[in-house]
Amino acid sequence: MGEYRIAVIPGDGIGPEIVGQALLVLEAVGRRFGHAFHTEKLLAGGCAIDARGECLPQETIDTCLKSDAVLLGAVGGPKWDAVPGDQRPEKALLRLRERLGLFANLRPAILHGPLKDACPLKPELVPDGLDILIVRELTGGIYFGARGRREGKYGPEAFDEEAYSVFEIQRIARVAFAAAQKRHKRLCCVDKANVLETSRLWREVLEALHPEYPDVKLEYMYVDNAAMQLVRDPGHFDVIVTNNIFGDILSDEASMVTGSIGMLPSASLSAGSLGMYEPIHGSAPDIAGRDLANPIATILSVAMLLRYSLGLEEEARSIEDAVTQVLESGARTADIAAGGPALGTREMGARILACL
Ligand code: IPM
Ligand code: MG
Repeated sequence: MGEYRIAVIPGDGIGPEIVGQALLVLEAVGRRFGHAFHTEKLLAGGCAIDARGECLPQETIDTCLKSDAVLLGAVGGPKWDAVPGDQRPEKALLRLRERLGLFANLRPAILHGPLKDACPLKPELVPDGLDILIVRELTGGIYFGARGRREGKYGPEAFDEEAYSVFEIQRIARVAFAAAQKRHKRLCCVDKANVLETSRLWREVLEALHPEYPDVKLEYMYVDNAAMQLVRDPGHFDVIVTNNIFGDILSDEASMVTGSIGMLPSASLSAGSLGMYEPIHGSAPDIAGRDLANPIATILSVAMLLRYSLGLEEEARSIEDAVTQVLESGARTADIAAGGPALGTREMGARILACL
């Protein structure tokens, strides 16, 4: 029996629809296990620009900081394309990550058994399905380094700096080593150590930490090769740890390899228990408001929230099991229906609820 405060940021596009279904699931878990989840809806992204003239109002940050966890739908859309760079809806995400100290981004790329056909790779390349965890550093590197314009050798130029401290590498590496220990004990550090000094520091730091995790097999791979191996032999990977920008790119690739981007949740964790949980897909403005979106990634994000921020493992499993059951029953939203009959957002949510 627990009482928890959950900050909820529905955001833009399909965000409000998928978060709506995820909140119904959260309430159902509360009833079944006897927890009270106090949710508060907050503005961030394009809707905050419209309502408040800024993508991330201070009260959103303050309320998130006072909460046990944050659930986010998606932000952004073409409506705000003309907004200047530092006020774009996406900036709300970056600021939230920074202000809440969410340095560790866990992006699982799982090919669910019943959805094997969704994988665009030849079946012989994925004989055992897919289960990769990408651990992406989220508050450092080129996303947060110095940037600007200046006069250079060839006239005006722009620059973005990639910098990592030993401390930042150590803390993300520990998250990744610990995750590998709970899985198949293989960790691959993806970098560009043949060119970048930051990558060479990553390798030094991981090498020094490795003796603390002797059961984990550690390897290094250049990012260009990793991009190739993800489509050539994805079963090679268990846990990948990498910097902010490589993690951004490789996690999109890995999710595409599973063929069901609408299915994948993510967790962004801080040094404490506060975390932010969101589907890895975007706001899909083209299908917003039409009851077409797949709510499963957001519903599975609630499971991650229960597990990582609240320590409620059994409750988290109950959601994951309900999703598996519903998929096994053949229920599909349009994105995973392969042209067959498809359920709407609300009906998919209702089927999952019924299994709880
Ligand atoms: C992601 C997104 C963001 C990122 C954008 C929207 C700023 O692509 O979460 O992967 O680059 O981190
Ligand atoms: Mg991305």
